[in-house]
Amino acid sequence: MTAKNSATNDPKIRDPKIIVALDYADEKSAWELVKKLDPALCRLKVGKELFTATGPQFVEKLAKLEYGVFLDLKFHDIPNTVAKACSAATNLGVWMLNVHASGGLEMMQAAKQAVEANANSPLLIAVTVLTSMNEAAFKKIGIKGTLDNHVVRLAKLTRDAGLDGVVCSAAEAPKLRKKLGPDFCLVTPGIRPTSSSLDDQKRVATPKAALIMGSSYLVIGRPITKASDPLAALQAIHDECMA
Ligand code: C5P
Repeated sequence: MTAKNSATNDPKIRDPKIIVALDYADEKSAWELVKKLDPALCRLKVGKELFTATGPQFVEKLAKLEYGVFLDLKFHDIPNTVAKACSAATNLGVWMLNVHASGGLEMMQAAKQAVEANANSPLLIAVTVLTSMNEAAFKKIGIKGTLDNHVVRLAKLTRDAGLDGVVCSAAEAPKLRKKLGPDFCLVTPGIRPTSSSLDDQKRVATPKAALIMGSSYLVIGRPITKASDPLAALQAIHDECMA
């Protein structure tokens, strides 16, 4: 990662791989967790629920801390609208944001141009096919070919548009790493430490396995947010990654 993308002044010293998903319905609950965590060990992800409940001011407040915020709003609209939304998100000071790759090349290029207009441009990544979709659900939306091939096709389109990477499952990471090269950012949810419950995740990988499979960053929610001691859980996962 280049300096502009780091949440800290020296990315070589601190580039935490864990992104904690702040899946909360209100600012107070999210803030209580944030106060317990450590920016040396993780970044933070704000998704649609928390953003819709609390608004951009809370994102701005989080972005002023040392963590680095991934604003996970998955923009998907006409190029001009997505570009304007990305520009507004960039102005909040976030570290990473995302769009849907199925919005197409022109939409992604417009998004990239919009974030690059800011001196502190965030990483811009894309969602290929939602990992909640299986082959049967994928067939129903009428796209020809296999889901796996479509993921690779959209990841290549993402790279061609100049974006920094994609969201992908750990299972998809080895193929995408091979096809898209060492610098393409792969952000992976569905992570469960060895001792953790699966919750509603079906295809999971341990943090260490996901990194070995080629993931660049790991999105982790409940194993940390629901832990009795979230900082200890985060530290343990961090240590598991480093082992
Ligand atoms: O609690 P858990 O670790 O399952 O949280 C995972 C986070 O990653 C949630 O914010 C979820 O919305 C997000 N996510 C996911 N699967 C995807 C994309 C995002 O679990 N394919």
